[in-house]
Amino acid sequence: MRLTLRIWRQDGPSAAGRFVRYEIPQAAAAMSFLDLLDLLNEQLAAKGERTIAFDSDCREGICGACGVTINGRPHGPQPKTTTCQLPLSAFSDGEVITVEPLRARAFPVVRDLCVDRSALDRIVQAGGFVSVKTGSAPEANGLPVAKTIADAALDAAACIGCGACVAACPNGSASLFTAAKLHHLALLPQGQPERARRAQTMVAAMDDEGFGGCTNFAACQRACPKDIRVDHIAAMNREHLLSVLRGPLPPADDAQEESGSAARATP
Ligand code: SF4
Ligand code: FES
Repeated sequence: MRLTLRIWRQDGPSAAGRFVRYEIPQAAAAMSFLDLLDLLNEQLAAKGERTIAFDSDCREGICGACGVTINGRPHGPQPKTTTCQLPLSAFSDGEVITVEPLRARAFPVVRDLCVDRSALDRIVQAGGFVSVKTGSAPEANGLPVAKTIADAALDAAACIGCGACVAACPNGSASLFTAAKLHHLALLPQGQPERARRAQTMVAAMDDEGFGGCTNFAACQRACPKDIRVDHIAAMNREHLLSVLRGPLPPADDAQEESGSAARATP
């Protein structure tokens, strides 16, 4: 199949960007979208031109590195599919495809299709540690978790941190990402000792990083390749409200001590 790519080229964070057209006559429907970019880069390298910068790692839909905007949609036209798993059969022969970086105020462009998503890492970092008992491996049935709770926690844990939800949101909100990380731990026994502190620090970090607020568009859920549901955002809002109603958090050192004793008290 023959495809034309209109790709965003930008030399660096402060350089002006522009779309450049590339014709690829020898694309195959079985190739993935990243295979197509690889093919184009081989052609550019053979001509001595600068290749297109894009992020990828696992190419199996599990690391979250590969998000780009394809025809205006983060990860492209196929629902619940990362860019690395997007087959070219999702496009028509002769189609012109526009490819640009994930667009969000909190994701500055580094080069071409690469953006800096470290703001998401800092939200997770703000969540701090999780208290665990060290020593020998615990008895597997010693910490019973109801099947419905375990399933909900696993659904939240499926978030791969790709940032598509942020780029899809008209407000540039990271609520779906933050909610997935927060609710995952809030559901499990291991997440209880630091639960209240985590709700406040992660939500505060989300706001500090320049992400917008959630106004219930649910564009994030539609763009999410892992089908993370907006119900988790409602859960995050509950977590945050309950934490605030409990009053100010103790200073961090006291909190560590407090969480340590709570962890020891956790069955
Ligand atoms: S919630 Fe979905 S879209 Fe957002 S970072 Fe996680 S996996 Fe990606
Ligand atoms: S490269 Fe890892 S999810 Fe796409």
